Amino acid sequence: DTSVSEARQDNPMWSSRLAFILAASGSAVGLGNIWKFPYITGENGGGAFVLVYLLCIALIGMPIMIAEVMIGRRGGRSPINSLRMLTQRDGLSTRWTWIGWMGITASFLILSFYSVIGGWALSYVGQSAGGVFTDSNADSIGALFGGLLSDPWTLLLWHSVFMVLVITIVAGGIRSGMEKAINILMPILFILLLVMVGYALSSGDFAQGFAFLFQPDFSKLTTEGILTALGHAFFTLSLGMGVMMAYGSYLPKNVSIVKTAVAVSVVDTVVALLAGLAIFPLVFANGLEPGSGPGLIFQTLPLAFGQMTGGVLFGTLFFALLVVAAVTSAISLLEPVVEWLEEQKGINRLSGTLIGGISIWVLGLFTILSFNEWADVHPLDFIPVFENKTIFDLLDYVTANLMMPLGGLFIAIFVGWFMNKQAVENQLDINNGYGFKIFMFILRFITPAAVATVFIYNLV
Ligand code: PHE
Ligand code: NA
Repeated sequence: DTSVSEARQDNPMWSSRLAFILAASGSAVGLGNIWKFPYITGENGGGAFVLVYLLCIALIGMPIMIAEVMIGRRGGRSPINSLRMLTQRDGLSTRWTWIGWMGITASFLILSFYSVIGGWALSYVGQSAGGVFTDSNADSIGALFGGLLSDPWTLLLWHSVFMVLVITIVAGGIRSGMEKAINILMPILFILLLVMVGYALSSGDFAQGFAFLFQPDFSKLTTEGILTALGHAFFTLSLGMGVMMAYGSYLPKNVSIVKTAVAVSVVDTVVALLAGLAIFPLVFANGLEPGSGPGLIFQTLPLAFGQMTGGVLFGTLFFALLVVAAVTSAISLLEPVVEWLEEQKGINRLSGTLIGGISIWVLGLFTILSFNEWADVHPLDFIPVFENKTIFDLLDYVTANLMMPLGGLFIAIFVGWFMNKQAVENQLDINNGYGFKIFMFILRFITPAAVATVFIYNLV
């Protein structure tokens, strides 16, 4: 254990509260906001789904983010070791470290498909710069995307480029360059999203897009939709798997965990909603199908770029920033795997990054094949909840809808019921007793009950 704590002394803390907010936002804001949120919203009928998602963010996501950052800051180490140390210090079972193990597994699985989608965005940077979108229509854009998916070698190329990027950054250590880069790139992404919303406002069917997102029609909400909304709240905030614990371990003691967690959640949610407002007006104006699945943004935004003035520039910039957003999230997914490998005997940072990165790259081949050669392979058809799912669908479903909520459930129970209460109070800077009581009530009862209810409902 001493080697761990000695190692930690070389690691600097985040330089400021803002730096932590940006880094945590870098992990949170990613493909989840701009790619996944719009397409699952489209598949699940819009407004009612969005409402459930927002409730999950507020009642489940934010309290769990606070709890995770708190564990990380109190432990001051990698998630598994933080949990081991805290349980030992509070005289609890070290079985809680199991949360950390499940988190590492989830990171591994998520990154394997996340990188393939990041590769789509990379390929669209080139397409956009080459002027391919100019004067296109819904059919030609659809054919372009279909062509990409049906070609495993092109997918492999871009998946590989994406993983090389991620491996290079993680191998070099993420602290120094990342902070500065995120500082500049995240605001630009934000501004470009606003430009896209402006375009949707002037050229799309904004009224219908807006109504689709914000007018709840509960007849369209299924129990699977509720589980998807819950799972996405975890996915989009990078929760339930130790990422926020790891980032919290670098958080200086005088920074407010509550305020930062709220800030990160708000930034993440605003980005997702802006993406929705940029996309759905175009979907309706062009007679596209909102429920057309993972290709949704790749089939709507290029239409806009093809028609607007400066579209080549804006399009290239947009997909480049989407890649950046994806990379900053991917790094936070590889980091826990590498951190854990590094803690094994004889593995240094470089070899740890290579072992982890290459294994994840290989696993990514399954996702690539899910879109073409194995598009009809549904390996777990004999289990009802897994019916009709490709390997990609399964990876997505098992991580976001099962592993992350389960991890979050145990984190809430750990902090709410087991962790030393004085320590919880010290970590939170809520001065008035009511704030603390309300937080504890939510974490002890509301959060676990909500997660458990959704789970059980879906199984029955
Ligand atoms: N939150 C990221 C996104 O929305 C994905 C992610 C999940 C990153 C889990 C880290 C951990 O794209
Ligand atoms: Na996100």
